[in-house]
Amino acid sequence: MSINNKKESSSCDINAKSCSCSKEENFEIDLKSHWNDAYSKSETKKLGWYETFPEPSLQLIKKCNFNKEASLLNVGVGATTLIDELINIGYKNIIANDLSLTALEIIKNRVGDNKNKVKWIVDDLTKSKILINNEPVDLWHDRAVLHFFNEETEQDAYFKLLNKLVKPEGFVIIAAFNLNGATKCSGLPVYRYDEKMLIEKMGNSFELIESFDFTYQMPSGDLREYIYTLFKRKFLMNKL
Ligand SMILES: C[S@@+](CC[C@H](N)C(=O)[O-])C[C@H]1O[C@@H](n2cnc3c(N)ncnc32)[C@H](O)[C@@H]1O
Repeated sequence: MSINNKKESSSCDINAKSCSCSKEENFEIDLKSHWNDAYSKSETKKLGWYETFPEPSLQLIKKCNFNKEASLLNVGVGATTLIDELINIGYKNIIANDLSLTALEIIKNRVGDNKNKVKWIVDDLTKSKILINNEPVDLWHDRAVLHFFNEETEQDAYFKLLNKLVKPEGFVIIAAFNLNGATKCSGLPVYRYDEKMLIEKMGNSFELIESFDFTYQMPSGDLREYIYTLFKRKFLMNKL
């Protein structure tokens, strides 16, 4: 782990107080509770990652020139308005994943009957039991999820799943805190990235199409520095 990504605390307490639980025993459950609480205890529009309009993601998705049948997997989707926008554009094969059922329910309630146009999957990206069996997809979209995986084992599991699920010539959008970004989000330590680090993680079977830094303004007015990247999978898949 680079110095930039040094964790502020080794405690497994997601509220940054003291903690006596063993990571193996309780952390997975705690993280699920943490995210369910985050969405149930705050108004969606006040969440520190809420976007009224997900402009940078939509800008990159437009560049992929997908047809309306393309399968668009949004991992760690939270309560993002990106799903509303993708439905409005007319995409017919949208998949929304999150660890938190509470988050997915917020989008379902917001989009009403359109919820039937989306496949909803509660699953842990680092220990997938459901997504792993999904058909390969044309797009893997992640905003503000990968950076929560501080352990190498979690990052490896994430990229292994991504490699399994993205079709040859499919696209990957990853938006994470950049090296000037905050060291915590939602009270949790984050692992920050630059372009070179993401290219390395994606490996040889993907080529970088575009990347840019983006300053996001939180509902509180505070600023958060992100890097957005768009990758395309080469036609020939590497053996995993
Ligand atoms: C900061 S929020 C970002 C939500 C959304 N992508 C957005 O841009 O608004 C991080 C999201 O990642 C989800 N998440 C965290 N760990 C996860 C995991 N292991 N598997 C799936 N989702 C996870 C959380 O529940 C939360 O919704």
